[in-house]
Formats: sequence, structure tokens, C-alpha cells
Amino acid sequence: MSVVADHAAAASHARRAASTVVPARVALLGLGRVGRAVADIVRHSPHCLGRPVRITGALVRNTDARAGDAVCPVVDDASVLLRDHEAPDAVIEVLGGLEPARSLVLSALARGIPVVTANKSLLAEHGDELIETARRSRTAFRCEASVLAGVPFLGTFATRPLAASIDTVTGILNGTSNFILSRMSDGVAFTSALKEAQQLGLAEPDPSKDLDGIDAAEKLAVLIRQFAGLAIRACDIPSTPLHQITLRDLEHSRELGGTVKAVAFAQWTGDGRVCCFSGPAFVPNSDPLAHLTGVLNGVRLQRTGQEPLCFTGPGAGPEVTARAILDDLAEILQAPDIITLKSAVSPAFIGQPSTLGWYLRFASNHLPGAVDIADLLAAHGIWIQRWGPRDTRCETGEQRVLTFPCRAEDLDAALEALCAASSCTANAFPALGSINE
Ligand SMILES: NC(=O)c1ccc[n+]([C@@H]2O[C@H](COP(=O)([O-])OP(=O)(O)OC[C@H]3O[C@@H](n4cnc5c(N)ncnc54)[C@H](OP(=O)(O)O)[C@@H]3O)[C@@H](O)[C@H]2O)c1
Repeated sequence: MSVVADHAAAASHARRAASTVVPARVALLGLGRVGRAVADIVRHSPHCLGRPVRITGALVRNTDARAGDAVCPVVDDASVLLRDHEAPDAVIEVLGGLEPARSLVLSALARGIPVVTANKSLLAEHGDELIETARRSRTAFRCEASVLAGVPFLGTFATRPLAASIDTVTGILNGTSNFILSRMSDGVAFTSALKEAQQLGLAEPDPSKDLDGIDAAEKLAVLIRQFAGLAIRACDIPSTPLHQITLRDLEHSRELGGTVKAVAFAQWTGDGRVCCFSGPAFVPNSDPLAHLTGVLNGVRLQRTGQEPLCFTGPGAGPEVTARAILDDLAEILQAPDIITLKSAVSPAFIGQPSTLGWYLRFASNHLPGAVDIADLLAAHGIWIQRWGPRDTRCETGEQRVLTFPCRAEDLDAALEALCAASSCTANAFPALGSINE
């Protein structure tokens, strides 16, 4: 028999075997972009998980708007899907937001029904409570799609404690802001780039969570809990809005040997201190994250002094997210009682990074000379690593520089002194790594 025929025979055997197995009954909480993609995959490839799956129904807000929608039955009362005498084998939560997602996931886990979620807001805010409930009831709870939705990496570390013993996470965790900055690098203005993202369905009608760094901060909070064992609320992570970056920043950052990206960063020590931020940062060309464009996302996991591990790929999109959710479901159906998520062991104490340099932008009608700027910064222990060109194309002159790593408190004091002495304005954004080219 040929290899092709062999393969076809094996596939047909698998299908026959699967058809004799009782389908796994799955309740879908939410039938929006992701929920619908999950239902579509199951409908078109019911055997893709190795065991047939039947979606028993989906929870939505408005059932009337779904009249004639044949993907699966819809209900607006979750108790219909979760009632005891016909409880599902697993629940997929793709409602988004905190409530009713939290109550429904808690209720399912407490009753021993495994749950898959893609909801980073829920995990960031209530992760510990949910993971503890899963642990107590020995029930699987998976969330691979919550961070870097199309890149399976979280689960890999759950059973590999040595690989997981890192102390720094650096990532581009939000596709919308990466798309906008990529377009700005091509010379497209912020508002036009945002409009383009919305037309392509990449940005929400209200994109503020993406653009203000909140979405990335929620994902960072999930990563900090999983890798550092520290409880941190996303709203406590210092976040800077993307609109503080101008087209000229993108232009000048090229001359400084890098680019500007929306970065999520966290570095922690054994005593519970974590330095973190979410927002625009200078990224040198020597850093692979500088080359992730469009909606690509990436994360670098590192233990100080060791080589980093890098994961890149699509961070969102209904189809990729649905695939990650269904892979979680496949794992759960094989091992419904294995807990892979870690709850936090202690609260985090948030500090400012001191291992990073800074990208500084000065603007004034009467910019001080380079020597004056350098002297004043040096008096506070801030050393300039590279100068950008002085921009005098409009009335307000601008000067950009990169500093060597320094303490954020020293930088604050230096900028306050400089602004007071020269009536210029100063903006500071973190700068990753070193400049090699
Ligand atoms: N979209 C992506 O690419 C992506 C990527 C990674 C992770 N995620 C996560 O996946 C989750 C779902 O995202 P999505 O884009 O699919 O959201 P969505 O399109 O807004 O869909 C949400 C669904 O949940 C239902 N729903 C919301 N609140 C409800 C309530 N109180 N009661 C009953 N039903 C309710 C909605 O019902 P109606 O249809 O009646 O409004 C809708 O069917 C979110 O947690 C998101 O962060 C999404």
C-alpha cells in the first residue's frame, strides 16, 4: 500500500473509532468572534480533537439577534447549559469581561467541570481565586489563548520548572498597537493608522484598552503570576498611552539605531519586588522584538545571565484563538484533572526599572545646547549613550537622546532640574537593551 493510501486508511480507521466514542459535550459561554470560530471549527471538523465534540449550546446576551443562526443552539440563561442532570464535559468561556464570566467559571470549576478560557481580563483580575477553586476541586483550567493567542507556550512551562525559572519577561503583547506603530514607521499618521486598523477589524470600535497599554498590562499580569508567582493587578502596572509617540519619534529612533514598540516588561527579584511597565519603548535593531511588524506578537523569557527563550506569532484573531482554545480542550479531554496554572504565592511590590536605559525627547523654542544638556544630566548620574539629530523643522526644536541604564528616580530628578533651568519639556520612555549597530 502506498504512503497516501496508508494515511487515508489510518484516517478512516480513526474516524470509525471516533464515531463509536460518545461525543464530548461542551458548553460555549459566548458566541461572538471567537465563540463563533470555535463552533465553526467543531462543525466542519468534528473529529479534529481525536474525540468527537458536540457543542450543547452557546450563551449570548441577545437570542433574538441569533434567530436562524444554525451554528449551535443559543440561550440567554447560563443555567440551561450548566444544569446538574446534563452537565457538560467541559466549558469554554469566551464572553470577555469580568461578570458574568467570573461567576460562571467559578461555578463550573467548583462542580468539577473543566474550563478553557481566552479571557485575560478575567485571569488578570481573578486568576488566583479561579486557580485555587480549580485546585481544590482537582479540575482542569486552561488559558493558552489568553496571551499570544496563536502561540502555544504557557502550558509548555507548567511542567518544566527549570525552564520556567526566569526573572524577566519582555513582550509585544498587543497586535493593534504593534500594527499602528508599524504603519507610523511607514510615515502614516497615528489617527489614519488607527482608522486602518479599525477598517481591517484589528481594533475595537473603542480601542482604548489596546492603545492605553491596558490590554498588554493584563497579559503581563498573567505572565507575572505564572512565572514569578506574584499577584499584581493590571491597573497597578505603570502604563503609558501610545498616542504620546509621534511620527518624528519613529523617524528619529531609526537614526538612533532602533524603533519604538509597545512593550510590556517585567523583571523581579526573590523578595517580591517587580519592576514593570506597559507602553511605548525604544527597541534597538539588535533585539528580535524590533522586527515584529503588523499584528505579530512576541515574548522573550529570560533568566539573568542566560540565553533568552523567544516565542513569536499571531497574538489574536478569531481563528487562531479558537484553535488554541480547542487544543486546550483536547488536552483537557485526555487529562481532565491536571492543573497547569500557578496561583500567586505573595503580593508584588512594584518598583521602577533600573536595568534599562531611557529614550528622552526634549522640546523647546530655545533648546539648551548639547553640552548643557549632557552636563545637567551627568550631574544627576545620567549618562548619554547616543544623540539623535537636532530637529528644527518647526518652531519648537526637538532633541532626542538615549541614555545608559540608570535609576528612574535619578532620571526624574535630572529632568525636573533640566526643565526648570531651560523651560523645555521632556518626555522619557524606557529603552531596551544595548545599541550594537
Ligand atoms: N477576538 C480575538 O481575536 C481574541 C483573541 C484572544 C483572546 N480573546 C478573548 O476572547 C474573549 C471573547 O472575545 P470576542 O472577540 O469573541 O468577543 P465578542 O465578539 O464581544 O463576543 C462576546 C460574546 O459573549 C456574549 N456575551 C457577552 N456578555 C454577555 C453576558 N453578560 N451574557 C450573555 N452573553 C454575553 C456576547 O453575546 P451577544 O452576541 O448577544 O452580544 C457575544 O456572543 C475575550 O475574553 C477576549 O479577550 C479574543
